[in-house]
Amino acid sequence: MDAAQQVASLGLDEIATLDFRATAEAEQLGQELKEALGFGAHYQAARLAIARSLGVAAAPPEVASDGRRAIMGKILFGSGAELAAWVSLLVEHAGRAPQDRQELQGWVRAHWARGMRLLHSVLQEAGGEAGRFWRLIGKAALPQGPAGDAPAADRPEPARPAQGPVALRLGPVSEDLATGEAIRWVANAPGGNANAAFMGASGTGKTRCVTGILRELRAAAGVPLLAFDFKGDLTDGPTALDKAFDATVLNPVQQPIPLDVLALADPSPTTITLAAQRLRDSLGTLKGAGFGVNQKELLAEAAERALRQHRPCGLPDIRDSLVRLYEERGRKEDGAVATLRELSRLPLFAPTLAPAAFFARSWIIRLPADLPDLVKVSVVTLLTDALDRHANSLPDAPTDATGHRSLRYAVLIDEAHRILGVRLPGLSGLLRVSRSKGGAVFLSSQSPDDFSGEEDEFLDQMGLVLAFRCNADPGAVRRILGPGRDLAALGRGEAWLRIGGERTRQLRVW
Ligand SMILES: Nc1ncnc2c1ncn2[C@@H]1O[C@H](COP(=O)(O)OP(=O)(O)O)[C@@H](O)[C@H]1O
Ligand SMILES: [Mg+2]
Repeated sequence: MDAAQQVASLGLDEIATLDFRATAEAEQLGQELKEALGFGAHYQAARLAIARSLGVAAAPPEVASDGRRAIMGKILFGSGAELAAWVSLLVEHAGRAPQDRQELQGWVRAHWARGMRLLHSVLQEAGGEAGRFWRLIGKAALPQGPAGDAPAADRPEPARPAQGPVALRLGPVSEDLATGEAIRWVANAPGGNANAAFMGASGTGKTRCVTGILRELRAAAGVPLLAFDFKGDLTDGPTALDKAFDATVLNPVQQPIPLDVLALADPSPTTITLAAQRLRDSLGTLKGAGFGVNQKELLAEAAERALRQHRPCGLPDIRDSLVRLYEERGRKEDGAVATLRELSRLPLFAPTLAPAAFFARSWIIRLPADLPDLVKVSVVTLLTDALDRHANSLPDAPTDATGHRSLRYAVLIDEAHRILGVRLPGLSGLLRVSRSKGGAVFLSSQSPDDFSGEEDEFLDQMGLVLAFRCNADPGAVRRILGPGRDLAALGRGEAWLRIGGERTRQLRVW
């Protein structure tokens, strides 16, 4: 009981008599849980929630103490060894002992709040039925064996300790074309950026190259992957990302993506407003949607109302809220409402998993050509927004003694030109937070021109740029790789390479 001894300054006797208070939201959800599951006392739902949150590796976000009811330590956690075990778990999760009683109360409250939300979404998935709820909880808590019989989607990725340098080969050859020197990309180099851009004409080897690098990344850093597959070739024999990442492959039109996609890290008014504005920016700029200034403001307000009232909140909630708002304002339904109606007609998301659980696993999202653009872009937008929010709620990724940052997740948008024409606020946000949160976002596109039109200079956030043969606008090439680089003259398996701020070199990939 090392951890329990660390808090000896606080003392188990003292903790036993401390008051612990939930957030108002956790109190409310706890009440629902207590009724649905037939608990006799409040502490039972609270314990279950805290335990559920302790099962999530990331630190829970801090929350306000706005609950009305207090539960004393010895009721909430029991006494003696039982109390010591709970305190040990809390200390182990935080990685250190609390400085004072307020900090311990804050940790408990944060786990309580996060856990209640997780339990609540399970309860919803179970349709409020106790038997189904326990089965789902049991499944979520299954131990992770190497060859479990649970499907991949039910096994969370194991948490990893801080990594050393993650040095990756760039293709099977990975040599300087001029000197033959072996080239490795240290994706998590100190102060560097693990994002990467791949460009080149169709058939030049981008997909093979990027998937090869991702497989190396998986082997070296064990990160989970979120990949968008527009061509259906990320699961082919030579690429086989599904096998390398133990990923679940989904087509959202046939099978909803099991994510509470609009979940917020905390329910504060500021968070809700920011999320509503992000949604306005994301949905309001969808190709063909053409929202005007007034429509965008109405969408933001409708989204804010829906996010405040519904948890989980889905696109149908936002649609209904927008329709009501239009009625209130005596405004005739227009393209904005039509877009929301069209989007929410398909159940693209189901709020089964909270973001922490969802993004701990690997997913390949199929978005084949026959899906409407609106659907494709919305799925990418909503998922990147959700990952951006989730990444921002995490503490900064740890670095090793020499400054190599631990990598936590990888994202792949192969054939990004299908979406780069649209401004994606979540994507630029994701590229920006990669550095501190340990993200690696890989984008591939047919031409450097595709990266040019962005306001948020995508390329400034790239630690690696690899350009295969293509006929690109010379201006774009100069901006990305410097003067005198001829992409049209490259042979098979050759590429121009830029790593961080280093000079541009020619690389033999294969
Ligand atoms: N590492 C490699 N080794 C051998 N051939 C390759 C390699 N990478 C690409 N190729 C060849 O290039 C073709 C196209 O590769 P692909 O990755 O699908 O290109 P892109 O994604 O740029 O359209 C492959 O079918 C294969 O013939
Ligand atoms: Mg390809």
